Amino acid sequence: MSYVRDYSASLQRRDSFWLKQAQQLHWFKEPATGASLQADGCAHWFADGELNVAFMALDYHVDNGRGEQTALIYDSPVTATKQQFSYRQLRDEVALFAGLLQQQGVKPGDRVVIYMPMIPQAAIAMLACARLGAIHSVVFGGFAAHELALRIDDAQPKVVISASCGIEVHRVIAYKPLLDKALELSHYQPQRVIVWQRPQAPAQLSAGRDIDWQQALRGVTPAKCAVMPATAPLYILYTSGTTGKPKGVVRDSGGYAVALHYSMQMVYGLKPGEVMFTASDVGWVVGHSYIVYGPLLAGATTIMYEGKPVKTPDAAAFWRICAEYRVQVLFAAPTAFRAIKKEDPSGALMVGHDLSALQRIYMAGERLDPPTYEWTRELTGKPVYDHWWQTESGWAICANPVGAGEYPVKPGSATLPMPGYDVQILAADGSPVADNEQGAVAIKLPLPPGCLTSIWGSHERFVQSYLSEFPGYYSSGDGGYKDDDGYVFIMGRTDDVINVAGHRLSTGEMEQVLALDPAVAECAVIGVHDELKGQIPIGLVITKDGVELSPQQLSERLVQLVRNEIGALACLRTVVVVPRLPKTRSGKILRRLLRELAEGKPVNVPSTIDDPACVDELKSLLNPPA
Ligand code: COA
Ligand code: AMP
Repeated sequence: MSYVRDYSASLQRRDSFWLKQAQQLHWFKEPATGASLQADGCAHWFADGELNVAFMALDYHVDNGRGEQTALIYDSPVTATKQQFSYRQLRDEVALFAGLLQQQGVKPGDRVVIYMPMIPQAAIAMLACARLGAIHSVVFGGFAAHELALRIDDAQPKVVISASCGIEVHRVIAYKPLLDKALELSHYQPQRVIVWQRPQAPAQLSAGRDIDWQQALRGVTPAKCAVMPATAPLYILYTSGTTGKPKGVVRDSGGYAVALHYSMQMVYGLKPGEVMFTASDVGWVVGHSYIVYGPLLAGATTIMYEGKPVKTPDAAAFWRICAEYRVQVLFAAPTAFRAIKKEDPSGALMVGHDLSALQRIYMAGERLDPPTYEWTRELTGKPVYDHWWQTESGWAICANPVGAGEYPVKPGSATLPMPGYDVQILAADGSPVADNEQGAVAIKLPLPPGCLTSIWGSHERFVQSYLSEFPGYYSSGDGGYKDDDGYVFIMGRTDDVINVAGHRLSTGEMEQVLALDPAVAECAVIGVHDELKGQIPIGLVITKDGVELSPQQLSERLVQLVRNEIGALACLRTVVVVPRLPKTRSGKILRRLLRELAEGKPVNVPSTIDDPACVDELKSLLNPPA
């Protein structure tokens, strides 16, 4: 493999390059067509190919000598459980559960919502959907009922699959009451709810609608793999946009399988039989791509870890797992390493864990800040790589092409565009900016295999959200620059999306929730820098006349409202009551100014401000003297 050769071939001889990558996988009907260009400028990939992604990920390996190799390791410090599934066992469990779904009427193209914690049954449910050609939509277990209801209404699933509970560090979170509440809130009702009962908090089942996973499997016939067109959606994954309504990113089957398989070599340098530990959650894209599909497509071993980087039981958790399972590739969010660093800055807890198998450490989900990069590299002595991607892309847009020979690392940079991604930095008018100058990070169309093909239920929203800002380009929503060597530096979002502990959240959505409170006349939510989580949200509210609550009481009520409506993961812990918000003369809230004030930075008061007097007032409220 050569990065330069692959990169130029991927853009100049697009079809032959990707068809060659496609040949590495086992298709039911191998594609002869690469990209079919659509009216919107995007491509549908491998349109004449036929496949089943679960077959490629499991059956193929069982049929080709990997049946007894470990496919999935479940390690759960929160329940003191460890379990391993060989490729054969996992294939059989998936086929059986797919049989149950089939018995419940699930057919190709039907949607299935999965609301589960990090247990093997979550992966089994995903792969069972793929086996049937049904479209799964996994909802992160930390989301509250309202968020789940939004996704159920949008995806309209025939079946919802859940577990009775999830387990956080010191508490059990009963999922079923949250799901019941979501189903009360949603207009759409699924035909069936399947619940995996966990002993920590068994769920009450509603007769007629809910069934017990373990009991219902008795007597079920395993299902065969459906033969699916490459362009059939494999899943919908909701992500935060700038409005309150999450966007259902639609992922195809063939393009995704090819891109992931390619990335396993090019980005992660992982060989079949090696072990990948991705410390994320199946509710996020990282979990879809590199806990479930990527490692299995590659014939590797994946680890599902139900725990945290710290406190389960301590900051050695990652090192313990890497040593115990001889992990080659570790992938987590920078915030996880910052949490480890905070608890164990000198790495005392790492001592005694044999990390000799560990080859590389990867980080994504948010910018890898140079201090965290340096600390991790120095402590472990392993190469550490930042790579930049999004729910929308499904795999790395920029990374270090280690499969083709490592490029020098520049701290703060996600390194180089991966094959297929023509990354350009554009000015507001769409013209390219010079090297080292910041602009909007855009990708020239068509996007390579693996990237989203639409927004579920609204292709118009897809075009409007991603393709309309710069005609002929996908606009990533991130700002950044390229240096003289073509290295890409991603500096942060240019929209109202914030990144809290590697979780993507919308400030617009939080504002909608705050506005639900009868005491709130107007509000703004901004993301401010946080040492541990990268960013955290802060709410600012103006109360209606006649509100008798103290600012403290109102603040507590609003914090609870966001926890109830969005979930604790939103981490909105501070809401400040303010008399006015800074606005332009045309009425737009000056968020950058608010951020500068809240972070205690020097403020740039724009000339367009309507009421300059409010700046000093806000300064004292947002930044009270210590
Ligand atoms: N189900 C229910 N609640 C959840 C949850 C889940 N799956 N995940 C998080 N929460 C809750 C937590 O319990 C916490 O609630 P609390 O406010 O009542 O304490 C809240 O959401 C915030 O959680 P978290 O962001 O995990 O904060 P933390 O302070 O408990 O832990 C870190 C800090 C850094 C250890 C943690 O954020 C972490 O592991 N980050 C890495 C995230 C990651 O892997 N992201 C992947 C993106 S690729
Ligand atoms: P998500 O869709 O949840 O994966 O979030 C994607 C967003 O996270 C991107 O648009 C970036 O803003 C941010 N992000 C992810 N990885 C990186 C990275 N390596 N460097 C900088 N930002 C990142």
